[in-house]
Amino acid sequence: MIITTGGIKGGSGKTTIATNLTIMLANKGFDVLLVDADDQETSTDFTAWREESTEGNIGYTAVKITGDAVRTQVLKLVSKYDHIIIDTGGRDTSSQRAALSVSDVYLVPFTPRSFDIWTLRKVEILVSEIMIVSPKLKAYIFLNRADSRGADNEDAAELLKQSEYLSYLDSPIGNRKVFSNAAASGLGVTEVKPVDEKAINELVLLFEKITNI
Ligand SMILES: Nc1ncnc2c1ncn2[C@@H]1O[C@H](COP(=O)(O)OP(=O)(O)O)[C@@H](O)[C@H]1O
Ligand SMILES: [Mg+2]
Repeated sequence: MIITTGGIKGGSGKTTIATNLTIMLANKGFDVLLVDADDQETSTDFTAWREESTEGNIGYTAVKITGDAVRTQVLKLVSKYDHIIIDTGGRDTSSQRAALSVSDVYLVPFTPRSFDIWTLRKVEILVSEIMIVSPKLKAYIFLNRADSRGADNEDAAELLKQSEYLSYLDSPIGNRKVFSNAAASGLGVTEVKPVDEKAINELVLLFEKITNI
C-alpha cells in the first residue's frame, strides 16, 4: 500500500502521522519505506535522530525524493516493500502531485482551527484533479491536535464532513504532549515511555480504519 500524508497547510501533523504510521507498520514486521518528499526534510531529520537513539536500528528504510522523481522512483521501489509512506510538504507542489499519482491512500490531517479548515477547498481541488488520472485514490481527512473539550472539534468536523472528494474519518487524534516527546527522542508514540494509552489507541484506531490491518 502506498500512503501519502499531505495537505495545503504546514504544521497540521503530516510528518507526525507519516513517521508514526511508518514505525507502527515496521514494528508489526512489515518492510516499510518512508519517502521524504518535503523540502523541509523533517522526516529525514527525524530519521537521523532516530538512527542515534536506536543505535542504527530504525526499523525502516528512509529516502529523500522530491519533484516528479517521487513518481518514477516510487514506481521502481513499490515491489521491494510491503508499504511505502510518503510525507509531503504543506503546499500544492509537483512532489505532492507526483506522490498522489502513485498512491492508494491520501491522508490529510486538519487541526480544528479556522485557518486550517479554510484550506479544505484547495485540497478538494487538488484531489479532484488527481482523481481524473488516479480514480483508485482514496482520500481521507481527519482531525489532528483535537481539543479535549469545547465545540471547536464538532464545528470543524461538520465542515470536513461536507467534503465531496475526501472522506471524513471520525477518528480524531488529540492534542497530546507525547507526540512532541516521542519525536524529540526519535521514537514513535507507540515506543516512547511513559506509555500514553489514549494517544496509542487513537493512532491504532485511525490506522485500522485506513489500512484494515
Ligand atoms: N496530535 C498532536 N498532539 C500534539 N502535538 C502534535 C500533534 N501532531 C503534531 N504535533 C506537533 O505539531 C508540530 C507540527 O507537526 P508536524 O507533524 O511537523 O506537521 P507538518 O508535517 O504537517 O508540518 C510538531 O511540533 C508536532 O510534534
Ligand atoms: Mg512535515
